[in-house]
Amino acid sequence: MKGIVLAGGTGSRLFPLTKITNKHLLPIYDRPMIYYPIQTLVDADIQDIMIVTGGRNSGDFLRLLANGKEFGLKHINYTYQEGEGGIADALALAEHFADGQQICVVLGDNIIQGSIRAAADQFRSQAAGAHILLKEVQDAERFGVAEVEGGRILGIEEKPRNPKSNYAVTGIYMYDATVFEKIKTLVPSGRGELEITDVNNAYIAEGNMTFSFLDGWWTDAGTFDSLLRATNLVAQSVLRKESGQDAVERAVQV
Ligand code: G1P
Repeated sequence: MKGIVLAGGTGSRLFPLTKITNKHLLPIYDRPMIYYPIQTLVDADIQDIMIVTGGRNSGDFLRLLANGKEFGLKHINYTYQEGEGGIADALALAEHFADGQQICVVLGDNIIQGSIRAAADQFRSQAAGAHILLKEVQDAERFGVAEVEGGRILGIEEKPRNPKSNYAVTGIYMYDATVFEKIKTLVPSGRGELEITDVNNAYIAEGNMTFSFLDGWWTDAGTFDSLLRATNLVAQSVLRKESGQDAVERAVQV
């Protein structure tokens, strides 16, 4: 399975932090944001990775990541998204790279505590279709929300005012090669973007979508509040690992 990190967009919800850099280069505790989704893929034994980026700061990704030596990689692929077509539009650029293989897509601002290794291994043996990871949250209206019944997903609504469940669709998606044909049938949503939720609903309509629940914490980092939350969660995890609970409490006091 190949990996794709989507790291384009204007980051308008983080303006002016994103006036002079790309959102995915902003710091989350001790690393640039993009390090985390790359590590998520590498931890799931996905070594062949493409970064989709765009905008005026795209060259900085190459300077920062080079060939991915810090992640134990030999090589990283890059492509450039013109304009602001949305997540599915960015993914369309990876068709040539995917070359008919299964792909795991991670949104560049999605950070997780645990691992997607088990889900990736399960998907590797899934003959066709897609697999998404859900997480129970308190603010489901900020996300794509899955309606689940009898162990099946009935549908996903993008940022519904009245969510039908508390199950957010995280920005980690596994697809077979038909994803690119599905993207070609999409029309732009109300916000003028090709929505990843429409891609997922196409798999659900075919009866070809499986799902699992993500272990550990999950956050995006595309708003001021979630950026702060991501930093705090990462800091707590790092400090707890390095120095124990006391260090976390000392840091929180500061
Ligand atoms: C996107 C997706 C949404 C998903 C979220 C996860 O939202 O559209 O379905 O739940 O990522 O981070 P966006 O960040 O574009 O608002």
